Amino acid sequence: MQTVHSIAELRHALRHTTRPAFVATMGNLHAGHLALVAQAKPLGDATVASIFVNRLQFLPHEDFDSYPRTFEADRDKLEAAGCDVLFAPRERDLYPEPQTFKVQPDPALADLLEGEFRPGFFTGVATVVMKLFMAVFAGKAQGTAVFGKKDYQQLMVIRRMVQQFALPIDIAGHETERADDGLALSSRNGYLSTEERSHALQLAQALQALARDAAAASPAQLPTLESAAMQALAALGWQPDYLTVRRRADLLPPQAGDGAGQLVALGAARLGSTRLIDNLEF
Ligand code: PAF
Repeated sequence: MQTVHSIAELRHALRHTTRPAFVATMGNLHAGHLALVAQAKPLGDATVASIFVNRLQFLPHEDFDSYPRTFEADRDKLEAAGCDVLFAPRERDLYPEPQTFKVQPDPALADLLEGEFRPGFFTGVATVVMKLFMAVFAGKAQGTAVFGKKDYQQLMVIRRMVQQFALPIDIAGHETERADDGLALSSRNGYLSTEERSHALQLAQALQALARDAAAASPAQLPTLESAAMQALAALGWQPDYLTVRRRADLLPPQAGDGAGQLVALGAARLGSTRLIDNLEF
């Protein structure tokens, strides 16, 4: 595996590649990331992974400074996973000057759920992903990028961005990888104390219960079910931002006629100081 830091080095490393397959990460890699690499591998003639903790997508009070940086271990894992090129830009490589041009996603998709609680988050994500895409795919007729479905709304924002800008990139979604007990894998799980980790599955369980109840309810009953789900999780010691049922197509509240196979339950909640997200399609 070749490790490169600048966009110029990356383009040189990919000069003979016609269809890159790409996985964007912020590092601190776990089995979920490596599953994305495994999915990407057969989809291109070179597999590229990036590691970059993107300042633009963190709010001032969030964990940009403390976000776990485990570069050597990450590089070894990617090499073992058969990745061909690791793109690990330093901040000055990706943002040599303040990034004053940004990708502004449609507020109808990006200002709700995660965007409501993390204002500007999806602008930061879309901007860095566009820049990473330009670094990896510029000059290529076609390529593929794989993103995890744990970040459900992020995957939708990126799909829409690719569609709106007519980028020649296929976006593939990967089912959420889970620990043996069912906890969605996330770099932020590492923040949990042993005690918190033993309760962390409660978010996924709350979403399962909400989805089960919602499947038997009318759209008008959903706000009551959502409030009850949030109160039940809060009673277990969590601070929920949202637990909600939305349409998979646009993340808006379901209407009459929207039913099984078209919905997703999404949740975000804080356990101690760790904010976790999860979702369940049903
Ligand atoms: O999902 C992530 O790890 C990040 O949001 C991404 C897509 C790598 C952009 O920084």
